Amino acid sequence: MKKLRYGIIGAGGCGAGKHLASYSLLPDDIQIIAVCDIRGERADQMADAYNAEASYTDYKEMLKNEKLDLVSVATPNHMHAPAAIAALQAGCHVHCEKPASLTPALVQSMVDAKNQSGKKLMIGLNNRFTNWAQLAKKWVEAGRLGEIYHAKCGWKRRRGIPGKGGWFTTKAQSGGGPLIDLGVHFLDVSNYLMGFPEPVAVSGQTYSKFADKQAFNPNASGYTGTYDVEDLAVGLIRYANGCTMELEFSWASNIEEEYTYVELYGDQGGLRFAKAQLTLIEDFNGTILKTAPVLRNDENWGNVETRHFVHCIRKDEEVLARPEEAVIIMNMICGLYQSAAKGKEVKLKN
Ligand SMILES: NC(=O)c1ccc[n+]([C@@H]2O[C@H](COP(=O)([O-])OP(=O)(O)OC[C@H]3O[C@@H](n4cnc5c(N)ncnc54)[C@H](O)[C@@H]3O)[C@@H](O)[C@H]2O)c1
Repeated sequence: MKKLRYGIIGAGGCGAGKHLASYSLLPDDIQIIAVCDIRGERADQMADAYNAEASYTDYKEMLKNEKLDLVSVATPNHMHAPAAIAALQAGCHVHCEKPASLTPALVQSMVDAKNQSGKKLMIGLNNRFTNWAQLAKKWVEAGRLGEIYHAKCGWKRRRGIPGKGGWFTTKAQSGGGPLIDLGVHFLDVSNYLMGFPEPVAVSGQTYSKFADKQAFNPNASGYTGTYDVEDLAVGLIRYANGCTMELEFSWASNIEEEYTYVELYGDQGGLRFAKAQLTLIEDFNGTILKTAPVLRNDENWGNVETRHFVHCIRKDEEVLARPEEAVIIMNMICGLYQSAAKGKEVKLKN
């Protein structure tokens, strides 16, 4: 079978460490043709590292010259929509990083471009592809939780502001702080497990307390530029079916330890994923049962997701991380930011 001609737009940490690394593991399906990064040196370096034929600093040039079949988009968030739409219009399938874009309207414009092109668009929501999430989904579908009436999710870092002063902390480029950066992962996987009930209202609060403090991620670029995003977001989502979800996401907090978790509360069972352990709590004739499966270690991030996307392209199947669902998640995230700005609950238009 003909190999897919592959190119990438944005060859930074995620572009190289996830996309190039995982697509390069599929030599029977993928021919890495071109690498594009606005930093020419980086584009050349990654093109050399992955034996690509060409490197570019302008993705429009790359799309015009290279007749690609498949393109990854791993730029800062504000470039996702324009780059993904250009690639779809150039006839490419697109694997775009999370968050899909900055607003629901922009994500919808990506969905529209996908539908017009007849190509596939998948968002890089790697948590859906993990062993724990796939087993949890089967438990939910088998009715082990019964009616899910509440959920909680969070990702709290003590000192983990990415690239402080760079694009991550510049709202015009990132769309926000940990809510859009980390929250998009766990809001997505929680809603996926719950079967995407319709969200109707959100109430959020954000805090920005670390802009002027020197305590930052030692890998970060240093605080020399903009910091106009939150470093802690908390909130509540209400759904049409009466279900609720609490959330908390931070890049920096004075806490004893860092943690991530997803909890689903059902009237038959409760599910928790935290500290790499999935647990199911059920009542069996008055006795509480705890199931703690021994899961295979997940493969390196991106590999399962990338193989899945290539499989969907080859077999013309629906992708697991659908951009239509990213519109719903972005609606919640932007609603939470609006609620924080207004200081009151916001009703969502779906
Ligand atoms: N799925 C995950 O868990 C995960 C993890 C990390 C990052 N990401 C996402 O990946 C994206 C990139 O994040 P990162 O950490 O790699 O950032 P990064 O800053 O390391 O890399 C971004 C790269 O894009 C390049 N770039 C900027 N504008 C461009 C343009 N117009 N054309 C071509 N290249 C351009 C930059 O020069 C840089 O090399 C973000 O959307 C981020 O949210 C996802």
